[in-house]
Amino acid sequence: MERIPVAGPSITQKEIDYVSDAVTNAWYSQANMYHERFESGFAAYLNRKYAIALPSCTAALHLAMLGLGVEKGDEVIVPDITWIATSAPITYVGALPVFADIDPKTWCLSAQSFEEIISPKTKAVIVVDLYGNMPDMTAILDIAQRHNIAVIEDAAEAIGSEYAGRQAGSFGIASAFSFHGSKTLTTGEGGMLLMDDENIYKRCLYWRDHGRQPGNKMFWNTAVGYKYKMSNMQAALGLAQLERIEELITHKRQIFAWYKQELLDIEGLTLNNEAPGTKNTYWMVTTIIDKSYGIEKERLIELMREQYIDCRPFFYPLSSLPAYDNLAQAQQARQNNQVSYQLSPYAINLPSGLNMTQEKVRYVCDILKNLLRQSRRIM
Ligand SMILES: Cc1ncc(COP(=O)(O)O)c(C=O)c1O
Repeated sequence: MERIPVAGPSITQKEIDYVSDAVTNAWYSQANMYHERFESGFAAYLNRKYAIALPSCTAALHLAMLGLGVEKGDEVIVPDITWIATSAPITYVGALPVFADIDPKTWCLSAQSFEEIISPKTKAVIVVDLYGNMPDMTAILDIAQRHNIAVIEDAAEAIGSEYAGRQAGSFGIASAFSFHGSKTLTTGEGGMLLMDDENIYKRCLYWRDHGRQPGNKMFWNTAVGYKYKMSNMQAALGLAQLERIEELITHKRQIFAWYKQELLDIEGLTLNNEAPGTKNTYWMVTTIIDKSYGIEKERLIELMREQYIDCRPFFYPLSSLPAYDNLAQAQQARQNNQVSYQLSPYAINLPSGLNMTQEKVRYVCDILKNLLRQSRRIM
């Protein structure tokens, strides 16, 4: 029996052709050709003015912090449930992350919790489109505007998702995507930062090129900055994937539909939500297992693994991570963020790679249903 991985890409002859072309021809005077096509194609796809191709989404969020001038003494609000890559860049620039609770339906930032923890030091909020779903952007943008807080959208997991007819990655002052190998659109490793403001764009270009003003003389650095660039081969891969984006999204939604069909009637399982007016691209099909089954995520993942199925734990609340042990903001969040702490122990991501077929989904669901039946019997 072959293992069923939790995530993975769809690679066709198109990707192979583009990467082969890049490795053969994208040198000398052509050295930037794939970057330019990937960046301009991506910006056009999202109706943004500027796009910067980067080695990761983490780098994109770091540059967003630098571009907005977030610094020591500032606070940046993030949802408690996300990957640490959302919050780590806040620490990189010497600012403090503050953890808001999530909404029980969308699993994304709760607008109410966000508003409750705003302080005079709050400079920005990073909103996360968790597992391809969209938060209540209307409420969040309204709160941010009233309090003069910059919104950054971490759309790492949500290419193609929509909220009220607008695409994920088109919200806020800047947005970031990940092209890690597990993502719907991949470049192996990679990321993109998008924005509309020319000044922020220029500052980001400056910081990503070792503190050198774009157009300034060569090797003339006016600050110690960073080296954040994507290779041409990665950009070629990204461009090929972008040209197939509708197909990739359609397949993601199909995978979710297969799961839904298999699991709909199972009592005590909650799958990803898609609220009216939103489009969820289901980067990771996720299920919350009701507490009454008496099975926590780690044990369930172990049992699934024994049946050759790889799953992932729903993110642990950031405020529960040893990395934030000594942070007062994390101690506060552990008291306040009840939804994050209630959901996280009982939820897992199911295999959602673009190689999933209906047959594999059926196999995963049969195993899951069996395990749940057994755990009910034991209780
Ligand atoms: C929500 C979120 N933000 C940021 C990242 C960071 O992406 P990268 O690995 O490209 O730095 C990820 C990647 O998994 C993510 O899921």
